[in-house]
Parts: sequence; structure tokens; C-alpha cells
Amino acid sequence: MTRNTIGVFDSGFGGLTVLRALLPLFPGSHFLYLGDTARLPYGAKSQATIARYAVESARFLEDKGCQRLVIACNTATALALPDIRDNVGVPVTGVILPGAQAARAAATGEDILVLATDATVSSHAYRDNAASLGLRAHEKACPLLVPLVEEGWIEHPVLYDVLRIYLREALHEMAEQGRVPSAVLLGCTHYPLIADPIRRVLRELDCPATVVDSAEATAAEVAAAAGPQSSLHAATFECFATDSVQKFARLGSLFLQRPIHSVNLLDLGG
Ligand code: DGL
Repeated sequence: MTRNTIGVFDSGFGGLTVLRALLPLFPGSHFLYLGDTARLPYGAKSQATIARYAVESARFLEDKGCQRLVIACNTATALALPDIRDNVGVPVTGVILPGAQAARAAATGEDILVLATDATVSSHAYRDNAASLGLRAHEKACPLLVPLVEEGWIEHPVLYDVLRIYLREALHEMAEQGRVPSAVLLGCTHYPLIADPIRRVLRELDCPATVVDSAEATAAEVAAAAGPQSSLHAATFECFATDSVQKFARLGSLFLQRPIHSVNLLDLGG
């Protein structure tokens, strides 16, 4: 019998937080994870470039036999989900709608703050998905966070300084409109790794908002779409990266919270 094979894609390591949430929900399945680390960051690129990169990556995973794809990247979901769906023949789930739904469940009022990359913020995908759920999203671009996380600086003083600047600015922008967020949505799959520093800085700034991570919500949505899963065997995974496989194994283990023993190097072109 062929094993259920699911592809998970991100521009880098961040989507491993989604893979981590998926593994226990899919006993017996095999996951292929692709991090397009050579072309990261997507968040600073144009829609056309993001769509081209994301479609190439999705096609690679489909060609490797994946029967379902998870776009574990907010930027690729926000700017390229229709392009990806048009170019592959398997079901595709993105992270934006599950993220907005998780924020809806956590928020106590209508105002939320979304932290994301430049490209995700410019697309207003979160504003629009949140509005459809009765939420008002203030979107804040935090372009320095992905490089800091990719460097593994997840407890570094520089990270805290950068977070203080972004969060103080965002809360000030909202306060000027008389708004206070009751939930802060991590609109980039890299940010769950710095959820604790974000919580600490929010507390410093007297903001009691709940921090919401879309990884669990996305995994639950994929599981609901795939239907009941049962097997006596744990799910397995295999990783592909388009840049240094050593760095991927080292940093990726932090995101996945389990060792990554080997990574396949992949060339998707420029
Ligand atoms: N992980 C991507 C996201 O969720 C951001 C990283 C990048 O800019 O490539 O938006």
C-alpha cells in the first residue's frame, strides 16, 4: 500500500513549526518538507517573484508524490495561493485563514494586531480574512525578525531591542485610533520561535494581549480536510533545502524540536 505523503513548504525553517503540529495528527503518513532557504526572504520580494518561487516549490513536492500540500508560509499563502492551486493537481492548504480563525477564537474584542513580513502586510490578506470573521486587524511589518530568527538569535538582546521598537510603534499606531489589541497574531511562520520574547515585550509595554500562533490551527484544518487517520506507526519526515544542509539540520532541529539527521540539497534554479 502506498503511504499517505504530504508536502509542507516554506521559504525557510519557519514552516517546521507547522510540520511539528502536523506530525502527531497524521500517524503512518510521510511528510516531505521543503525550505527554499537559498531564495529566502520571500517577504521582501514582489508578488510575481514570490509566486514563481512558490509554484516551483509546490510542483517539486507534487512531482515527488505528495497527495496534499501545506503552504506553511504566510508570505507565499498571502501572495501566491491562487497561483499554486492553479499549477498543481492536489489539495492545497495555506496558513492565513486558519491563523485568522485562531485569532477570532482568542480575541475578546474586535481589534487584533498582526505581525508579518512586508509582503504579507502589503497584500492585506490578514486584514481581509480577519474582516470576514468580524475582526479589525492592524497589520505591522517586522522585516528584521526573519533574519534574526534565521540566525538563531531567538533570545539575543538585539532581538529584544528590535521587538521593543516594532511593538511600541504598532501599539502606538493603534492607540492613536483608540484601539487596543486583545490578540497578537504571529503572521509569519518564523515568529513562533520568538513567541516568548514577544509575550515578554508585550508585558513590558503593559499590553495583556494573547499571542496566537497559526501552526496548530493550520494543522487542525489539514487534518479535518484529510479525514480520520489511523496507524500504529508514527509519522515520518524527510527534509529538502535549497541552501546549506548543515545549517538547515542545526537550526531546523530548533524549530521542529526534534533532531533532523539528514537534509537533501535541492537546486530549484534562480
Ligand atoms: N516564513 C515566511 C512567512 O511565514 C517568512 C519568511 C520569508 O520572508 O521568506 O511569511
